[in-house]
Amino acid sequence: MAFDSRAFRDALGAFPTGVAVITASGAQRPIGITVNSFASVSLDPPLVLWCMDKRSQRHEAFTAAPGFTVSILGTGHREVSSRLARPGEHSLDGLPLTATELGPPGLTDSLAIFECAREKTFDGGDHTILLGRVLRFSRKLEGPPLVFFRGKYSALAQSKPPEGAAGRPTDKD
Ligand SMILES: Cc1cc2nc3c(=O)[nH]c(=O)nc-3n(C[C@H](O)[C@H](O)[C@H](O)COP(=O)(O)O)c2cc1C
Repeated sequence: MAFDSRAFRDALGAFPTGVAVITASGAQRPIGITVNSFASVSLDPPLVLWCMDKRSQRHEAFTAAPGFTVSILGTGHREVSSRLARPGEHSLDGLPLTATELGPPGLTDSLAIFECAREKTFDGGDHTILLGRVLRFSRKLEGPPLVFFRGKYSALAQSKPPEGAAGRPTDKD
C-alpha cells in the first residue's frame, strides 16, 4: 500500500502543540523561524530540541549557528508567528524584542525564553534535529499559550482542572 504523506501529516496535526519562535544570529542580523517541533529532552543536563526542515532557506544559518534562543509564544503572538512562518521571511525588524545575555534576542512577552548552546545535530529524514543545552532561561508566571492543532492556531479552553487533579479540591476535602 502506498504511504499517504498528506494523510500522515494531517494525522500528526491531531497532536496539539505549543508554538515557539527560534532565533539565531544570522550572517548580518538575527533571524527567526516559527516552529512547533520544540520539545524538552533532559532536565540534567538541561537539554531541549527542535527540528528544522532541510528545505528551508534558513537551514544552513540555523544549523551552523553556535546557539539559539527559544521563545514560547502566547496568544498575543499570533501575527508574529504567521510572519516568521512565511517563506523567505526571516527578519526580526520591527518586532518587539527582549535582549538576552548570550546573543539572539527573544520575543517580548513570551511565556518562557530559553537561551541555548547548540549541543549536537542529528539527521532526521527531511529534517535536522537540533539539540540545545539550556544555559539560561526566564519565564512569565501568567498568560495563555498559543496552540497549534489540526493545521490551525488555537487556544486552551479555560476549563477547570479535572476532579482530583493537583490543586483542585474534591468532595472529600
Ligand atoms: C505552527 C507552525 C509550526 C511550524 N513548525 C516548523 C518546525 O518545527 N520546523 C520547521 O522547519 N518549520 C516549521 N514551520 C514552517 C516554518 O515556520 C516556515 O514556514 C518555513 O521554514 C518557510 O520556509 P523558509 O524557511 O524556506 O523561508 C512551521 C510553521 C508553522 C505555521
